Amino acid sequence: MYKSKIAGIGKYVPSQVVTNKDLEKLMDTNDEWIQERTGIKERRYAHRTQETTATMGVEAAKIAIERAGITAQDIDFIVFATLSPDYYFPGCGVLVQRALEMKEIGALDIRNQCSGFVYALSVADQFIKTGMYQNILVIGSEKHSFGLDFTTRGRNVSVIFGDGAGAVVLQRSNNNISEILSTHLHSNGNDAETLAMYNPGTHANYWKKDLADFNEATLGDMFMSHTMIDNAQNFPFMDGPAVFKKAVVKMPEVIMEALQANNYTTQDIDMLISHQANLRIIQFIQHTLKLNDDKVYNNIQQYGNTTAASVPIALCEAWEKGKIKEGDLVCLTVFGSGFTWASALLKW
Ligand code: UT7
Repeated sequence: MYKSKIAGIGKYVPSQVVTNKDLEKLMDTNDEWIQERTGIKERRYAHRTQETTATMGVEAAKIAIERAGITAQDIDFIVFATLSPDYYFPGCGVLVQRALEMKEIGALDIRNQCSGFVYALSVADQFIKTGMYQNILVIGSEKHSFGLDFTTRGRNVSVIFGDGAGAVVLQRSNNNISEILSTHLHSNGNDAETLAMYNPGTHANYWKKDLADFNEATLGDMFMSHTMIDNAQNFPFMDGPAVFKKAVVKMPEVIMEALQANNYTTQDIDMLISHQANLRIIQFIQHTLKLNDDKVYNNIQQYGNTTAASVPIALCEAWEKGKIKEGDLVCLTVFGSGFTWASALLKW
């Protein structure tokens, strides 16, 4: 069995900064509420026509590939995680393959939302462990700004999310220092509708006949109807407090699972990179695990919640700032729609 390591990491965030004050002009919200409840001060929004989820992923990937000391031609496989793909299909992976003029390698898209990057990393890790591939490009990227409800109706969701991308090259490890030690993936579909974007979809209210926003009259015989758009049913739905309550339980749990699987304790963690969903959630986890401030890196204040991109962007930034060094024990953890949650423990 081979081992894998992160050989290169990159991030890309659009240049357009959107502050809480900017959002105040669009909806009934305020800087104080957003900062107090989430920690977010500002986020980035992609250029409407010049940047897409795939192009941002490509920019992050170029940096990761260069830092790995290889070329796009050396990549054997692509795993792309996003909930905001350029097209409903095909996935973004093939757009990266085309943009980087790669060989005709496999491209897999992952749809695990906020947990997407760790799920993607885990898939890539298994391919390297078995010896099938040597260099895998793993990307998390989101262009949320294209699909949010910027009226007061959508304020509990729209103020949280931001755009951006992160990427790593996962490579067969030839040293005894750097490696992915283990990944731990979980799901529980009982809460599938608690954080979801129902449309476009083929559900026809099959799963939740009692959804407040849905009735027979709004159902078309297509997966997207004019009525759905007129009723703003094409935006994400989130029961924030319900997600919050599960996240603060499941993330510490899955971190402990990773530590125990490798005979470590919380005090062995050099750096915890959590999904950047809400600063209060991360502070709760930090408190539960009794981790010092220098063992946790957060950047939700600047970027908001970038879903599948949040962990690789934070990991990249922490490394760029010299907060992660070779051999450090790094723990990644995520929680999101599904619900799905996961962790990864690695030696940097
Ligand atoms: O990344 C995927 C995983 N997602 C998460 O982990 C998100 C987890 N949940 C959360 O982060 C929090 O639940 C939120 C930040 C989404 C919301 O914070 P909260 O403290 O749970 O607030 P709430 O939803 O209970 O709403 C409290 C009040 C409500 O008003 P009333 O009913 O008390 O009058 C909301 O209508 O805050 C109101 N509100 C807002 N006010 C100003 C909701 N959104 C806003 C807003 N600005 N943007």
